Parts: sequence; C-alpha cells; structure tokens
Amino acid sequence: MNQVPFANTGVQLSQMCLGAMMFGSRCDEAEADRILGAALDGGINFIDTAAMYANGGTEEILGRILPGRREKLFITTKVHAGVDGETIRASIDGSLKRMQTDHVELYMIHWPQPQMDLHEIMHALNDVVVAGKARFVGFCNCPAWVFARCNRIAEANGWAPLVCNQVPYNLIERGIEVEILPQALAEKIAITTYRALVIGLLAGKYTAGQPLPANSRGETDPRVPVWLSKHGDGIERLKKFAAGHGVPPAHVATAWVCARPGVTAPIVGVSTLAQTLAAIEGFSFELSRAQADELASFFDTEVKEEAGGKFPELRRALDLGV
Ligand SMILES: NC(=O)c1ccc[n+]([C@@H]2O[C@H](COP(=O)([O-])OP(=O)(O)OC[C@H]3O[C@@H](n4cnc5c(N)ncnc54)[C@H](OP(=O)(O)O)[C@@H]3O)[C@@H](O)[C@H]2O)c1
Repeated sequence: MNQVPFANTGVQLSQMCLGAMMFGSRCDEAEADRILGAALDGGINFIDTAAMYANGGTEEILGRILPGRREKLFITTKVHAGVDGETIRASIDGSLKRMQTDHVELYMIHWPQPQMDLHEIMHALNDVVVAGKARFVGFCNCPAWVFARCNRIAEANGWAPLVCNQVPYNLIERGIEVEILPQALAEKIAITTYRALVIGLLAGKYTAGQPLPANSRGETDPRVPVWLSKHGDGIERLKKFAAGHGVPPAHVATAWVCARPGVTAPIVGVSTLAQTLAAIEGFSFELSRAQADELASFFDTEVKEEAGGKFPELRRALDLGV
C-alpha cells in the first residue's frame, strides 16, 4: 500500500482510507472486526467515520474493535448535528466516548450550512485541538472560497487551520476539478474523496435495464437507479475496459481517482471483508494519464462552462499561483 503525505503536516498515511460508514448498518460488528484486521494487515492506517453513521453505532463498534489497534490508526470523525460552537465542542466528546479513545487525529465539520458563522466554527475547532481531543481539523463538502476564508480567520487569530477537505469525486461526480483541486495543490490541502465507486455502480454491481440486485445499497438509495439510467453506457464501457485489463471494474474506478492530481486518498466504502480485500488489491492497479483520459471520455461528465475564451480552462488550471 502506497504511503502519501497528509497535507503539509509531516504525517504519512496509507493511500487507501477505509470508510467505516457501513459498520453497524450493512455490516455487523463481527464483520467490521474482520474488515479492520484485514485493513491493518494490508497496510492501511487511515480510517474514516462520523458521529452520524448508524446514529453513533459505527463509532460504538469502533470503540469495541479498536483495543490493541488504536495506536496504529489515524482516525477521522465528524460533527453533523450543528455548526455552532457549542455543538462542535460537545460532539467530539460524544465521539471520543463512543470510540473509547481520548483523541482523534482529524475532526471535521460534516456539512456546511447557510448562514454559518465561520469565526465561531474556527474558534470551536481550535478549542478542540488545544484540549488535545483532535490533532488536526478539516471541513467536508466545503466550497474552496469558504475553506480559504476559514483559514484566513484561523491565521489572523493564531488558531489551528483546516488541513483537509473531504469531498465526493469519481468518474461521474467531477465538480471538485473546477476550484477545489487547484486550491488543494496550491495550498497543500489534503483532499480525501468519497464515493469512488458511486455506491457500487462503478464496481459493476448494477446493470441498466436489469432489476437491482437483492440486498444491495441500490435497493434503498434512490440515487442508484437515477445514475444507472443516466450513465449505464459509460458503466458498460468501464466494465469492458476493466475486462480488457484483467481486473474488476472497481480497481479501475478507484485507480482513476488516485491518478487525478490533488487527490490525497480515496475513502473506500466497504460492506464486507471480501470487498475490503478486493479494494486493497485494487490499489496496486495504476492508470496512465492517457488511460485515465480515455475512461473519462466514456462518461462525458467533466464540468462544462459556456463562458467562452480561456475562463473555463483557467479556472481549473492546476498551476495558477503555484
Ligand atoms: N463526508 C461525507 O459527506 C461523506 C459522504 C459519504 C461517504 N463518506 C465516506 O466515504 C466512504 C465511502 O462512501 P460510499 O460507501 O458511499 O461510496 P462508495 O465507496 O462509492 O460505495 C461503497 C459501496 O459499494 C459497494 N462495493 C464496494 N466494493 C465493492 C466491490 N468490490 N464489488 C461490488 N460492490 C462493491 C458496496 O455496496 P453494497 O453494500 O451494496 O455491496 C459498498 O457499500 C464512507 O464509508 C464514508 O466514510 C463521507
């Protein structure tokens, strides 16, 4: 498993981050235990969870399966209940109690909210760091300009800066290429990406025109049939590309995310041990730039802007101001 730098913190992490969101929902505690063991054996030291997952149940499971493993892991958790200072300071205590640990490595705001008070957020996040409850802080799903404004506030006050933005990114959802990835490269922000497999669509689990497989996330997630009908052709071409290289489609979809400049680590969501082992193996599959471009052409999902001239191209240039 490749090791990658985590922003400019000096910390090195596994390129695969294990997404624990299914622990306590589609994956019971015994399977979660096996998954965590396999992840550690596979060289993974990076794990992502949130207070929200399974209503705190994911963190509780982690609390029971972490003993003996805790010190090997860089753990991310998130606050979702509110973006006010009181909630940010209280939610970390709940997360630590459930995980039976005295700190996490990375504490993140789960979602921005309209009219949020950035000064209050950054102050509260800094309090969490000063109290030793988190080493670093970050913000998920955060627009680039909001991230920059937060860090201006942190710098002016001598507070802990945001070092990581966690965002969706895959062959279908490519919005972060416009502002977030160029900002990340210029500012050395860690970008952890979720939904590399589009909830299993890019793993070839679903076929357009066929019934959704029983006992799959697609049965209950209304986005799956919508994306399937929109991108069924691209998915079939992805499957053929993968077959031509003798690997499962999930390897290709994840390798595409890894190949993109500015991405630190894809967070791989797994429901089973078998998916975990497959994902770990997949990180040794690499794509050339030309292959990555070919795959993107199957989906035609690059964000297009009709402004004309050089504006659209410059907005996503990766070397402006570097
Ligand atoms: N910050 C945020 O707002 C945010 C939002 C969402 C997720 N996340 C994080 O990102 C992680 C990943 O997100 P995600 O689970 O939604 O996206 P994902 O990685 O695109 O999808 C994972 C799902 O794909 C299926 N799958 C995985 N490996 C497979 C394989 N080899 N073959 C066939 N199917 C396979 C499984 O579904 P089945 O159960 O149907 O088999 C699995 O649950 C989460 O665990 C969480 O840590 C963060």
